[in-house]
Amino acid sequence: MPIKPKSPSKLEKAMATKLMHAVQYDSYGGGPAGLKHAEVPIPAPKKGELLVKLEAVSINPYDWKIQNGVRPFYPHKFPHTPGTDVAGEVIEVGQGVNSFKAGDKIVTLHSHATGGGLAEFSVAKESMTVTRPPEVSAAEAAGLPVAGGTALQALIVAGVKLDGTGKQKNILIIAASGGVGHYAVQLARLGNAHVTATCGARNIEFVKSLGADEVLDYKTPDGEALRSPSGRKYDAVVNCATTLTIPWSTYKPNLSEKAKVIDLSPGGITFFTFALHKITFSKKQLMPMIASPKKEELEYLVKLVKDGKLKTVIDSNHPLSKAEDGWGKSIDGHATGKIIVES
Ligand SMILES: NC(=O)c1ccc[n+]([C@@H]2O[C@H](COP(=O)([O-])OP(=O)(O)OC[C@H]3O[C@@H](n4cnc5c(N)ncnc54)[C@H](OP(=O)(O)O)[C@@H]3O)[C@@H](O)[C@H]2O)c1
Repeated sequence: MPIKPKSPSKLEKAMATKLMHAVQYDSYGGGPAGLKHAEVPIPAPKKGELLVKLEAVSINPYDWKIQNGVRPFYPHKFPHTPGTDVAGEVIEVGQGVNSFKAGDKIVTLHSHATGGGLAEFSVAKESMTVTRPPEVSAAEAAGLPVAGGTALQALIVAGVKLDGTGKQKNILIIAASGGVGHYAVQLARLGNAHVTATCGARNIEFVKSLGADEVLDYKTPDGEALRSPSGRKYDAVVNCATTLTIPWSTYKPNLSEKAKVIDLSPGGITFFTFALHKITFSKKQLMPMIASPKKEELEYLVKLVKDGKLKTVIDSNHPLSKAEDGWGKSIDGHATGKIIVES
């Protein structure tokens, strides 16, 4: 009688699969303590995808907001490996990928639904991946996709022409020292705007060094009232603060006739005010904004960094084995620039 081959045990199967280090969570909430270090299979790139070896990934507030549950949308399933903004090296390309090959240095944006960036390897879409030139470090590039892309789109909505050809606008950037804010100040200056910015007292000199013309400490009466030291009215405001609800009555006296206030962390009050402004044909408008990053905009940002026109300021660097430290720092809400996790 022939001997029936023994089916492989779980351990044998795991040994046959190549494993990698990943940082995951398997339930809602828990903050940094909810992150677990796991050995999981290296993903395989499908059609139109690339397998990327991690060099650097930045942490965005949206990462831990998703951990808290953006229900019913995210996360789609547990365990979830968070992280969207990845710089690294292409290891393998899937079917139909023409613009990249193994060995290329890239920066990419994973979707919030899949995440995957806080791991030694992740799978990127060719359609959201751009080449990273040698002049741009992995950490500098990893800061760009969400924070830089959002700052850029907010300024476009604000009516700033990034090539500096438009009429000069007065722009207020609220929370100018954080990830989005520090890019927004630099991009607004590139667009020839007069920039007023708010930040904490310890960051005033930093925000001036980014190019802001006037800086307000948000804890002073003028800072709280958003009053421009030179008495200017703002043509647009970009609110980059994470948990700050500013009443319309505070914005209104500081605005020019057709000003737009762009709220990047909109809550119910923003949506209500936005609707009210629409139905009353208000010239001054409060607008909720959810950015939808584009490949060509990421390309543009990478080029600005390469040309020395934009910089990514690194708040802190954390090894993947200590990713929870960077996660906790982001939750604390006082980053100066970008929080980076490196392989
Ligand atoms: N809508 C979208 O598409 C979109 C995209 C990206 C990000 N976001 C959201 O935008 C927000 C900011 O993101 P981020 O990456 O820039 O966060 P971040 O890097 O954590 O920056 C937060 C900054 O806010 C400052 N801050 C806190 N309270 C402030 C106040 N009252 N006035 C002025 N500054 C204040 C902090 O400065 P101090 O240390 O001085 O307190 C810190 O620099 C988050 O809520 C994020 O989810 C939205």
